[in-house]
Amino acid sequence: MAIQRPKGTQDHLPDGSPKLSLDTRAVAFQHVQDTARRVLERAGAQFLNTPVFEDPDLVKRGVGGSTDIVRKEMFTVYYFGDHGGFILRPEGTAGIVRAYLQNGLKQLPSPLKLWTHGPMFRAENVQKGRLRQFHQVDYEVLGSTDPLVDAEAISLMVDVVAALGLTGVRVKLGSIGDPADRDAYNAYLRELFGAHVERLSDDSKERLERNPMRILDSKSAGDQALIAELGVRPMLDFLGDEARAHFQAVQAYLTAWGVAYDIDPSIVRGLDYYRRTAWELHHEGVGAKSALGGGGRYDGLAEQLGGPLVPGIGWAFGIERLLIAMDAEGLDVPGQGGPLLYVAALDDVYVGHAATVAMKARQVARAEFAYRAVKPGNAFRDAERRGAQLVALIGSDEVARGVLSIKNLSTGVQSVVPAGDLHTFLAEATVPPSTYVQENA
Ligand code: HAM
Repeated sequence: MAIQRPKGTQDHLPDGSPKLSLDTRAVAFQHVQDTARRVLERAGAQFLNTPVFEDPDLVKRGVGGSTDIVRKEMFTVYYFGDHGGFILRPEGTAGIVRAYLQNGLKQLPSPLKLWTHGPMFRAENVQKGRLRQFHQVDYEVLGSTDPLVDAEAISLMVDVVAALGLTGVRVKLGSIGDPADRDAYNAYLRELFGAHVERLSDDSKERLERNPMRILDSKSAGDQALIAELGVRPMLDFLGDEARAHFQAVQAYLTAWGVAYDIDPSIVRGLDYYRRTAWELHHEGVGAKSALGGGGRYDGLAEQLGGPLVPGIGWAFGIERLLIAMDAEGLDVPGQGGPLLYVAALDDVYVGHAATVAMKARQVARAEFAYRAVKPGNAFRDAERRGAQLVALIGSDEVARGVLSIKNLSTGVQSVVPAGDLHTFLAEATVPPSTYVQENA
């Protein structure tokens, strides 16, 4: 058998491919990126790109040593002669904060809104909507602790899903407090679960040491049964005064703007850098365990990476999961659109001429040409399959007269266009009626 793509990856394919689904359609990815671009750039976010591989320390210090991502899911890349290796980025935030610090972006107006999209890599157990190479749209705001920035970020996330046409999305909002609040909560959890160590899964026994909060996020049924039985108090009970006031301010803005959300008192995000506001967006089509997207505040991250204090907040969507949700709601995305003009020669000697016409037409419109001489019937069939609106057939008569005879496939109207007027004709092709001679009219 020919070589297959690695497990947990997908090809993004052109329309017309067999067995195409929305989350493998290349144009669907572009549609999500374009929609996000429109929403985020209107809000003042600027696009940036960072490398897909980074220093291992960035990911370890940024994402956190106790997370599943760092402990089990990192892809390491080596090149010949190298010993340290690099990490394929599992998420975008740590790299963006590194880029902010390294490139002096602090000098730009603050708060600075940034966005990007691109592939992320996690060696996960593969299932629907859980891939090893997946794609995110990522939005980050650096330089402000204002709860207004949190509320705006959440609201922009809601704007993106609305712009995609999704309706069945729920915002689950929580707060994981300041570091001291978290320490108090972890001490409480350590004591609570410490009395039942033998019932915890092996993973959660380790979590009890490193980061007890992560037990609440466990995928083990036994752990979840124990959590329910013990009636664990939520993180929200442990918020200090400042984190509580911040959380209430975020909610007040969202409520004032009519952004619907549910408080999720037990929200636990899978990355260590979060503080205070944390949230996820969920959709039935993606399943209860998997979020459409998530985000939170990370005021300590820049310092964690060796920089000065730069407060930050942001979120990321999984593009594949957005597409799965859109598919579940019966939503579609526009196709790429065929060529406006299809040019075919009726005789071998004019094939080069047809190519020249199409290539000149490309200065103003999409145009394709037939690579060999064709009969008119075949030309129209091929043009239609490619989605062309206009077909120009070139034979000895057209070449001798220096004109193009162009048929509009939707109106059936045939026009004779002097070769030098092609650009004007194409520009007007969508606005009837044309001033050109219509032979069949
Ligand atoms: P995250 O919750 O780890 O957060 O990932 C964000 C989104 O990426 C998820 O909600 C999901 O849609 C998608 N995703 C994650 N893992 C996979 C996977 N294996 N397969 C498919 N989709 C996946 C972050 O990555 C943070 N950097 C978000 C953030 C930005 N926080 C602050 N700024």
